[in-house]
Amino acid sequence: LGPASFRRLASLASSSFGVAFDIDGVILLAHSPVGGSPRALRRLHDDSGRLKIPYVFLTNGGGYPESKRAMELRRVLGVNILPSQVIQGHSPFKDLVDRFENDLVVSVGKGDPATVMSEYGFKNVISIDEYASYFDNIDPLEPFKKWTTEPSSDHDSRRKVDVCSQRVKAVFVMSDPVDWSRDVQVLCDILRTGGLPGKEIGEQPPLYFASDDLEYQAKFPAERLGMGAFRIALEAIFNRIHPSPLMYTSYGKPNPFVFNNAEVILKHLVASFTSGSPQNRIPGIVRNHKFKTIYMVGDNPKVDIRGAREAGAPWFSILTRTGVFKERGNCAEFPADMVVDTVEDAVDFILKREC
Ligand code: G3P
Ligand code: MG
Repeated sequence: LGPASFRRLASLASSSFGVAFDIDGVILLAHSPVGGSPRALRRLHDDSGRLKIPYVFLTNGGGYPESKRAMELRRVLGVNILPSQVIQGHSPFKDLVDRFENDLVVSVGKGDPATVMSEYGFKNVISIDEYASYFDNIDPLEPFKKWTTEPSSDHDSRRKVDVCSQRVKAVFVMSDPVDWSRDVQVLCDILRTGGLPGKEIGEQPPLYFASDDLEYQAKFPAERLGMGAFRIALEAIFNRIHPSPLMYTSYGKPNPFVFNNAEVILKHLVASFTSGSPQNRIPGIVRNHKFKTIYMVGDNPKVDIRGAREAGAPWFSILTRTGVFKERGNCAEFPADMVVDTVEDAVDFILKREC
């Protein structure tokens, strides 16, 4: 290890702070950078583009594998981003593999949700597009829809699932659903029958949402309806047609476990940079690594700021004005530790405070 590399690894290893960036409304608006994000992130890398300050992306969004998301962020932001730096709303679903490994499970949402679940280790996962395609007339509005919902070609399209005998054992809403009317219909069918649409009434299979964001900021000037809005629609309808209320579990921010998990991932990030090979190892790094401060840079007070506040130390919340929050001053309901205009201002503040 040369002296320069050693110095960089040693500084990374001794870093007493880390950063978690929200994506939508802080780093990007839809697919375009916002708030000087490429410049802000470049400051966290050295002149050769290598990571200098440990940081992750902590988003409630998703729909694509973390590796693909990292590649896309790399392309748009012009800095080197590793898949391990991308934590999406659905990332913790991989912890449920043991429970549903070989069961038929349905994944819902934009992007390529079935591929994500397969990569997590689920062996019998099917997208709602493919699942619905096995049933004639399940969506009476389908003839009026001017688009196609062909199952993604990335996923294994050679198999044929016998949906008449194979019960759906769980449903995972991974990202914002695309065709709400069909998805509400098909999910009600699955959930009210115990996983066999059109058949007898059975016990509701478990239902998981990657997040519960009511609204988020994309390119349109006003906020857009998110997964939480879809959950409300599904729940309201299900509860009118079914004797017992919908049961579900929502992941994502503001749950404090998401922030605790991000802290662990930041520690692993430091470790992976400093102990990649035995000769690079700087003793005791992860074991003893403690962050004095982890900055959450977010745009949504109810989600990002509330979550960081509830997670407690070492979290420090920074609210930007490029997304859901647009007011002067601080948010009254969930005040952040610091309010700035853009992510570039946030990084400037962090580096001045820490360095
Ligand atoms: O659909 C994405 C949205 O719900 C939130 O994304 O990056 O602001 O957590 P983010
Ligand atoms: Mg956001």
